[in-house]
Amino acid sequence: MNKKKRVIAISILFIFIVLLVAIITSFENNLVAEEEVIEDRYTPFRNTSNFKNENKERYVAYYENNKSLDYEDVVTYVNIGLDREYYSYISDSDISKGNLILVNKYIKLDQEYIPNNLEEINSEYFINGNNSVRMLVKEAKEQFEKMSSDSIKNNTPVYGQSAYRSYDQQQSLYDNAVENYGDSVADTDTARPGHSEHQTGLAIDVSSTKSGNMLTFGNTLSYEWMINNAHKYGFILRYPKEKENIHGYINEPWHYRYVGVEIATDMHDNYSDLTYDEYYYKFIDK
Ligand code: DAL
Ligand code: ZN
Repeated sequence: MNKKKRVIAISILFIFIVLLVAIITSFENNLVAEEEVIEDRYTPFRNTSNFKNENKERYVAYYENNKSLDYEDVVTYVNIGLDREYYSYISDSDISKGNLILVNKYIKLDQEYIPNNLEEINSEYFINGNNSVRMLVKEAKEQFEKMSSDSIKNNTPVYGQSAYRSYDQQQSLYDNAVENYGDSVADTDTARPGHSEHQTGLAIDVSSTKSGNMLTFGNTLSYEWMINNAHKYGFILRYPKEKENIHGYINEPWHYRYVGVEIATDMHDNYSDLTYDEYYYKFIDK
């Protein structure tokens, strides 16, 4: 090969190498850019208080359909499960949470689950009859009795009407509701068995009379008293109005849930716009 040909060959090789390096660099840059775009989609959710990596695709999808929500709410709602139909994805309740246990339309208790330390509420603080549903777990029962006693002294009486219900009792209640009203109506006010807070022994329906007026309790002064005082004894209103799309039931001014004084007071004083489902995923399920 003469000198001229050698120079041409070397030049071609050089140009080929430069082109190859340019192509590889541009390919790598594209990959990085694509990764950044993907990362960008999750960043607003990652910056919220309870981002869960396993839910990141669901946050993006839920936000696409609910652009008026802020990122914090999107993350909370998806963590609750609200991007899916009620009862379509069900997991087991974390019973290690004790008084803070969560049960809802996505989280269930086993058929065999019976809380420890169930005790009967004194008949002084309970409506006449209904004795098969008169128990709460010890701590909730003691606090309920104090609350009821103080409410009676204040002339705004609050009596228990339905407290602990076993899985089988809830099954009968739900079956009756379905038989009478059909399942779509039944699902608005009666939990399916395993999904009722009443099975935790931490929930109680109340009345303002000894004969029981649970369904009109929301129109009484006793209800007003509960809204202002229940937290001092550790109880929260569990199914408030205008939050039906979160908890999945009608407004139930009669249904209270024991979570302990500290959490009930925090919810009352600082987070009165949150249901327990929201509060749980923001502050307890960490
Ligand atoms: N009524 C409430 C939702 C229950 O059945 O547990
Ligand atoms: Zn109830």
